[in-house]
Amino acid sequence: MSSPIIAIDGPSGVGKGTLAQWLCCKTGFHLLDSGAIYRALAYGVSKAGIDLADVDNLVNLAEVLPVEFKATSVIYDGEDVTSTIRTEEVAAIASKVAAIPEVRTSLLKRQKDFAQAPGLVADGRDMGTVVFPNANVKLFLTASAEERAKRRVNQLKNQGVSANIARITQDIMERDERDRTRSSSPLVPAEDALIIDTTDLSIQEVCEKAQNALSEAGI
Ligand code: DC
Repeated sequence: MSSPIIAIDGPSGVGKGTLAQWLCCKTGFHLLDSGAIYRALAYGVSKAGIDLADVDNLVNLAEVLPVEFKATSVIYDGEDVTSTIRTEEVAAIASKVAAIPEVRTSLLKRQKDFAQAPGLVADGRDMGTVVFPNANVKLFLTASAEERAKRRVNQLKNQGVSANIARITQDIMERDERDRTRSSSPLVPAEDALIIDTTDLSIQEVCEKAQNALSEAGI
């Protein structure tokens, strides 16, 4: 039997990353942070000066993307880009390249290859719908845009970066709209996903709900 897969999808700032890490600690499974792959591609695209309309070159880069995950670090072509890829600038480019169907197709195999024993926790937008449609557990996290912006601002404050909440809310809503309405792998819950609205839930409460879903699936 193949190793179990837990798919966690939802928009940005909803707490997928925190839940995914918690589940990895609990289960000892591998982690796929698929957003980091799109962000690494965005970083590479801007570093190489590739035009976002130049699909052939975007795909060429996606196919050989020199990104590696080492413990908690993301390495791009030998350079530690762990914090660089988390900026709003990189996020905006990532959302644009992620809307291009040919780019998504060229990153599919790389993502599927993460499915290895003893199991995988896959965090993204289309984990339960496109990349791992046979996942054993599918969780879809949601939260209001205002709450997600508040969390992002707090996160930036903790990093010593000041941020404008109105601007961040606007950016989040624009990115959500692009992720939801793109023709290829739009951000939608899988039919068999458990939807968890985290707006008024603590991290602990979200983890408990996820844990219950895993227990029901025998994981
Ligand atoms: O989860 P994140 O914010 O790190 O993702 C960055 C961007 O990549 C975001 O705009 C959505 C996109 N993305 C995607 O289209 N599909 C995924 N599986 C993961 C991320």
